[in-house]
Amino acid sequence: MWSTRLAFILAASGSAVGLGNIWRFPYTAGEYGGGAFVLVYILCVVLIGVPIMMAEIMLGRRGRRSPINTMRALASAEGRAPAWQLLGWMGIVAGFLILSFYSVIAGWTMGYIFRAASGLFTEIDATGAGEMFSGLIGDAERLLAWHTIFMVMVVLVVARGVAGGLEKAVRILMPALFVLLVVMVGYGMQAGDFDTAVAYLFEPDFAEFQGKAGEAILSAMGQAFFSLSLGMGAIMIYGSYLKRDSSIAQNTMIIAGLDTLVALLAGLAIFPIVFAHGLAPDSGPGLIFQTLPIAFGDMPGGSFFGALFFVLLLFAAWTSAISLLEPLVAWLVENLSFSRVRASVLGGLTVWLLGIACLLSLNAWSEVKIFGKGFLDLFDFLTANILLPLGGVLIAIFAGWMLSRASSSDELQMDDGPAYRLWRLLIRYVAPIAVGIVLLNAVGVLGWIGLG
Ligand code: PHE
Repeated sequence: MWSTRLAFILAASGSAVGLGNIWRFPYTAGEYGGGAFVLVYILCVVLIGVPIMMAEIMLGRRGRRSPINTMRALASAEGRAPAWQLLGWMGIVAGFLILSFYSVIAGWTMGYIFRAASGLFTEIDATGAGEMFSGLIGDAERLLAWHTIFMVMVVLVVARGVAGGLEKAVRILMPALFVLLVVMVGYGMQAGDFDTAVAYLFEPDFAEFQGKAGEAILSAMGQAFFSLSLGMGAIMIYGSYLKRDSSIAQNTMIIAGLDTLVALLAGLAIFPIVFAHGLAPDSGPGLIFQTLPIAFGDMPGGSFFGALFFVLLLFAAWTSAISLLEPLVAWLVENLSFSRVRASVLGGLTVWLLGIACLLSLNAWSEVKIFGKGFLDLFDFLTANILLPLGGVLIAIFAGWMLSRASSSDELQMDDGPAYRLWRLLIRYVAPIAVGIVLLNAVGVLGWIGLG
């Protein structure tokens, strides 16, 4: 169990805040033109993400086991079909796929620590930064080395059990990352094109979706699930270590608020540089790696701050990655009586192998396409935009319709007041219907039955 309520908040924020906020949010927002995407994203966080996060923590704390066993136990306690445990399995698959490409991107971050520290950013321009990035992702051996080191780091922590050191580290390093982001935003105000960036991010214009509204909304929703770590059991398992007397609603507000703030700050740090240097907002997954070096290279002490920034980003990625592996490891330990060490090594090895397919899709296998996407893009799309929202809908349906009113109000420690009613409205109707429509639209069902 977490020693204090703060420990839970730190661990769950450690899971939520990661590459999703700083790497994925800016480039995805850039791909869909900015403001309108950001607005849909925020609506998704508030109307779908928050109620589902409350539900996940609640189910976790009530079940007190790995997600698969929690779902089985709760389904049986409420007299529901044992098939609900499939939700737990889906989460494990999603966790695997996410971690496999997440580790590759964390590897880029590691590579950039050394590039910054050795002064390679100094006075770099947009062309130089672009070449530095394509040089890295074109080099399969380097990517493999970083990916391997990162996976070893993840397995080491998961093997030792989640609490302890992690708690202490998050307490210092997260605020540090936050401060550094604020400094970067300050740099953007002073040296970048800050006004254009603010207008770009916060003045929604739905014409930005350019006839791809379905895809843009799917991506904004997927980004909300990904960034909040929802729909695959990570938050559920952290909830299972949470003490009874801690308010789930309050904790959720803090975690979701912090996560969103970090994403918006990242946007405000990156886009002033993008516009000041005439870069394309839609340059894709390389966006932060092609923009931040320009800023660090231009500021006094930039080698130091640049290295520090990527160290802190690596750390944020690490705390997220740990939560991606945890549901599987907990299940192996509970059901197959594996030792934690064996379970973590086995899980880590499998993810490592999948990760190799992802990193090769950036270079040697760049011609290999499934549904028009390489492995990295495919795993990213499949998890963030499909599996996590699907898991989220199922969690919402279970928490809203399968769990009795008495059980949920007892576990959330909310009596039948307006707050509980609002949560129930969101979890029973708003979240499942909204996510359902977006997903059905994505797989083309709505068009097929003549509604899209
Ligand atoms: N939320 C993490 C991030 O934003 C990624 C993640 C997704 C972690 C799903 C756990 C589960 O980087």
